[in-house]
Amino acid sequence: MERVKHIAIIMDGNGRWATMRNRPRVWGHIRGSANVASIVEEADRLGIKALTLYAFSSENWSRPFSEVRVLFSLLKKFIKRERARIINNKIRFKIIGDISELPQGTQELIRELEQTTAYNQGLKLTFAFGYGGRAELVYAMNQFITQNPGQKINEKDLSNGLYCPDLGDVDLLIRTGGDCRISNFLLWQLAYAELFFTQTKWPDFSPAEFSRIVDFVTRRERRFGTIGEVSDLNEAQKLAERNRVTINQQLGTH
Ligand code: FPP
Repeated sequence: MERVKHIAIIMDGNGRWATMRNRPRVWGHIRGSANVASIVEEADRLGIKALTLYAFSSENWSRPFSEVRVLFSLLKKFIKRERARIINNKIRFKIIGDISELPQGTQELIRELEQTTAYNQGLKLTFAFGYGGRAELVYAMNQFITQNPGQKINEKDLSNGLYCPDLGDVDLLIRTGGDCRISNFLLWQLAYAELFFTQTKWPDFSPAEFSRIVDFVTRRERRFGTIGEVSDLNEAQKLAERNRVTINQQLGTH
């Protein structure tokens, strides 16, 4: 991969991070939300074009409402705290997902910042909130059916009907917290993404680790790009060995 343009992150492990420290789970979310700005800043510094963060999944509705309420309030606080920095850095801010259950005031803050930054040309910062990948696909298909009754849908139509079509495909998905799942996140956009799972729990995920992963994935892709030169079994075996070493390196990064 010459350049990683769109990175998606599943910010997992907040609850366990707090429990390990004998603190309530929401403490992990509070510390996790404090970590978001430094990763956004690093993405911007690395010249990443789009960063999509999974902040609240449609499945998260099943959590105790006290926890859900904290997540709502952290989103509101993040917007209030970071608004000026987002605008000054020409970041385009957007939320994908269903935010209709959020307090009216928070919805207004979101819409205001989305409108103010809509034409910014810098990093596309998107929070997936009240988001589910399957629901997004159903939404895209329903849009198409309504606008084009009786016609067949193709891949381009579906891409154009997503919540935020100009984000495009994800190049790299990072999940913190040690689980190796994609949890209904950006199902369509992840089709060709590199996947990277780190044991580090989100509140401990640092800009330095983030930057190392981006660098690692960029170099890995360049090495795998040599596949076109494989001419015989011997070469194929060497390549397989290289892949194995790379996977071990990945396991050794945490
Ligand atoms: C998973 O941790 C994380 C979430 C459900 C929410 C992620 C939210 C934040 C990082 C804070 C919100 C910040 C903003 C700015 C909106 P978990 O509770 O599932 O952790 P566990 O797997 O250890 O239980």
